[in-house]
Amino acid sequence: MSATIQAVRGMHDILPEECGRWQRVEAAIAEVLAAYGYREIRTPVVERTELFARSIGEVTDIVEKEMYTFRDRNGESLSLRPEGTAGCVRAGIEHGLLRNQAHRLWYRGPMFRHERPQKGRYRQFHQVGVEVFGLPGPDVDAELILLSARIWRALGVEGALRLEINSLGTAEERAAYRRGLVAYLERHVDRLDADSRRRLATNPLRILDSKDPETRAVVAEAPRLWDHLGPESRAHFEGLRALLDEAGVRYEVNPYLVRGLDYYARTVFEWITDRLGAQGTVCAGGRYDGLVAQLGGQPTPGVGFAIGLERLVELLGEGAGPDPQAPHAYLVSVGEGTRAAALLLAEALRDAVPGLRLLVHCGEGGFKAQLRRADRSGARWAVILGESELAEGRVGLKDLRADAPQRSLAREALAGELARLLREEAG
Ligand code: HAM
Repeated sequence: MSATIQAVRGMHDILPEECGRWQRVEAAIAEVLAAYGYREIRTPVVERTELFARSIGEVTDIVEKEMYTFRDRNGESLSLRPEGTAGCVRAGIEHGLLRNQAHRLWYRGPMFRHERPQKGRYRQFHQVGVEVFGLPGPDVDAELILLSARIWRALGVEGALRLEINSLGTAEERAAYRRGLVAYLERHVDRLDADSRRRLATNPLRILDSKDPETRAVVAEAPRLWDHLGPESRAHFEGLRALLDEAGVRYEVNPYLVRGLDYYARTVFEWITDRLGAQGTVCAGGRYDGLVAQLGGQPTPGVGFAIGLERLVELLGEGAGPDPQAPHAYLVSVGEGTRAAALLLAEALRDAVPGLRLLVHCGEGGFKAQLRRADRSGARWAVILGESELAEGRVGLKDLRADAPQRSLAREALAGELARLLREEAG
């Protein structure tokens, strides 16, 4: 026997029984996004490596250590996208979407990062991302937070998530702060963890969210970015806070909230849960007003976030709600001539009952075996077609989830009855 081939480490199959939950999450998100007027954009999974280096930043973990980068047959350096914002901005510039227009966009799909796999952290994972272009004010930052909060409510997970916000100021404000921060941290370098020491020369702001207790103690006494923000950045942040307060959104200002991508300016935020262990950030984002110009477009403000779908699906838990993939009915057919009649009956039912999910028994199996299959399929009803039913123009209908006898219906009455039962079940 030859050896079997397994999936790549950190890249997972999402099996049919899990897909129901995924579909419910994706449908709920799509509905909320439509309610806010966001439009979908689809961009390639592969982009030029340079796009990510120039946007996410050369000295970030993502670009330095985590990208799936390869040379294609023309010798060009390409990378699997580690996130969606860069591709979205590239597409916006390339197709002239951003010229003096406001755009509210969203996307969904797999992202790739060569991180150390653990619960909630994968090498292929899925995001729904949202990006808004052309709107500089805190009103749209607040809209994004309200939109995400509505998604949590739609899925019933609002109680499991808390919101943290911060302002990173402008690039200039951050540069001034960075000098002061580095001078301070250098005085305490012997107390910093190894990772933070390395970051001192490359990306010192990331030291602010170090998890090492001794480093955190040093950071607690460090100069504050807030003290280096100019009046406009402060007004932006206060504007956002006022809007959130007015909308009754609870949040915590976390002055140490920095992000692992370099393009952010001003608002940053994260929705975090304590229920998933170390990888508790379910949704994260912020404003990136400099990015479009940095990638060669006309200066255009931008802001957005991305939801990690694996984490959100996990948070939803098992058995939350009906499986949208389970069939409503299973068609059992036994006896001479019933197989062909069953296929035709099923076609007619699908024509007559919109939304009906009907599974037709195919292959071998007697009556009992077919009913067992019907039960295991998750269907609520079995439609039964035997030789006598076929001869009399009738069908049997059995509720598989209730202790009730099988009913016999005229064939013409079946579609109407199934439609009625579906309506009843929907509520
Ligand atoms: P990010 O913080 O790198 O931001 O990722 C956003 C979310 O994706 C995380 O909060 C997490 O839920 C999920 N995620 C990230 N890495 C992994 C992983 N290895 N395994 C599972 N889930 C993961 C961005 O990607 C930005 N593009 C967000 C954004 C959009 N900012 C503005 N617009």
